[in-house]
Parts: sequence; structure tokens; C-alpha cells
Amino acid sequence: MADNKFFKRSIVSIRDFTVDDFTYLFDLTDRIQTLTTNERGEIAKGLILGYIFYEYSTRTRLSFESAMASIGGRSLGISDIDSSSIMKGESYADTIKTISLYSDVVLIRHPSDGSSRYASEISDKPVINGGSGSEEHPTQAMLDVYTIFKEKKRVDGLSIGIIGDLKYGRTVYSLIYALSNYDVNIHLVSPSMLKIRNESIYDIANNMKMFHHTELTDDLLKELDVMYVTRIQRERFPDLQEYKKIQGLYNIDENVLKRCKSDVSILHPLPRVDEISSSIDNTKNAVYFKQASYGKELRSALLSALLHEKPF
Ligand code: NCD
Repeated sequence: MADNKFFKRSIVSIRDFTVDDFTYLFDLTDRIQTLTTNERGEIAKGLILGYIFYEYSTRTRLSFESAMASIGGRSLGISDIDSSSIMKGESYADTIKTISLYSDVVLIRHPSDGSSRYASEISDKPVINGGSGSEEHPTQAMLDVYTIFKEKKRVDGLSIGIIGDLKYGRTVYSLIYALSNYDVNIHLVSPSMLKIRNESIYDIANNMKMFHHTELTDDLLKELDVMYVTRIQRERFPDLQEYKKIQGLYNIDENVLKRCKSDVSILHPLPRVDEISSSIDNTKNAVYFKQASYGKELRSALLSALLHEKPF
């Protein structure tokens, strides 16, 4: 196997990683699933993942905790900042410094862009960005691309639709940057008020095959190998009246599925609200819960690689 470039490294932005890094991590993710429970449980024995979540989370926090437990480590953290000293006025810097005293790796979710980069400068332990602001969610993008590989056996040559809230959805930006390492056609589908922020992808947009749409037309649906559907980010809307105008605009259901390629893979970072109908959950096309379960495997591999030069 290639050298481990993840050892002791902070995972702040997807932009910091190359296609070789992805290949290394995806191989490691495949390999960790072949270990026995006992072998796996030795990897992080005695080591601790510390976390703090300034925003809600279900999958990111639980999959990291489950991942850390599966490699024999432990997790401790704060998922409800109302119960922490932040409420007494403690600074972000002091909070991060303290968590890094008690842990071997630090996971943070925060509403501000740049919060993870700043934390990585303060902490002497590697920092993992579990979602920051509206631009970065690097481990989500890694698991999204891993899921595409698992489903399609390749990424190059695919047509990938990214649908929904392209303005505020941070997983979208991280995914586009991750995909910029591959030769793909990207179809961006959103209402015009939720179009991608061009200034946030300016350095890659010209080198990618990117097409903009406002509707899921038959021609478009017939072209897509992968549909990556996202939630409208209600909490990031400055005006809720604006949210109400577009709520429920795209709904992927049996009727939409009928108009797609028969082997289209439907991904979603979750949580979903009303953009994918639960009536298609049991179809072979619905990959979103499998994707969430890959989250645990990929994060186990990632933690192993951050903690040990030779992960296992
Ligand atoms: C996403 C997030 O927090 O950005 N959740 C996740 O980690 N899968 C997506 C979202 O909130 O819509």
C-alpha cells in the first residue's frame, strides 16, 4: 500500500486532498471491513475521540462514535453546548484547547466557515471538520465519492446530478471539489434563488464540465447515472418567507424514478425532509441509507489512518 498521508493530519477542507489520498482512503475502507471484530478492536485501544457540536447532528456524530468504538477507542464530547462552559462565556479557542487536552483527535461541527482551520491551528491534536458553515463537510464528501465507487465501480465518465439547495448546502461544495479530481459531467439542479455560489467554486468551475438547470426534465433524467439530492437548508435562510416559496419544490418519487435510467443511484447526505419520497426507499436505486452506513466504515478507516502511521 502507498504511504499514509493522513497520519496526524487535520481534515479541514476537501480541497487539501488529492486523488491519491482518496484512493488510499478508499482502499483502507475496503480493507477495514475484512478485519475480524477482534483485529479491528485493537486499532485504537486506549485512544479517545473528543468532539464538540455547535450545530445539530445525527449521522456525523453517531457514525464517528460508532466508528471509534469499532476500532476499540472511546469518544467523549459535547453535543449540547447549552450544557457546557461556552454558556459561561468561554472562548472558542479555550474550548478547543481543553478538548484537545483530553483526546487524541478532535471532531468539530460549527456554523462558521473557517472554524475548523482555526481550531487546527490551536489544537495540538488532529482536528476533523464535521461540517462548518455553508462550504465544508470533507468527510461527507469522501464517503459520498466512496459510495459512488461502490455503486458504479468508477467515477470517471459518470453524469452526476446534484439537486436541491446548492446555495447553502455545504455537502454540495465539498462534493464538487472532491469530484473535480475526476472526469465527470456535473448537472446542477436548483431553483434560481438557490443556485450555486459561483465565487465559492471559482477556481475549479472552468475546468469542470458543469451544466446548470432549474428543472428535472426528461432529457436530463435520462442522462444521469447518479442523483445526489439535498435538503433545503431552512436554518440558513435569512428570511423564512423565502424558504416557504420553494419548500417541496423537488420530490423524487416513483414517477420521477420511472423517467430515470433504470440503474440510477440516488444518494442523499441525509437528513431528508420532503425531497425524496419514502415510497422509493426499498428500490435498488435508493442508496442513501447504504451511504450512511459507509460513513461509519470510511470514518473508521480515516480515524485509524490519523492515529497510526501504519493503520493496521
Ligand atoms: C449534512 C450537514 O450537516 O451538512 N448532514 C450530514 O452530515 N449528513 C446535511 C444537511 O444538514 O442537510
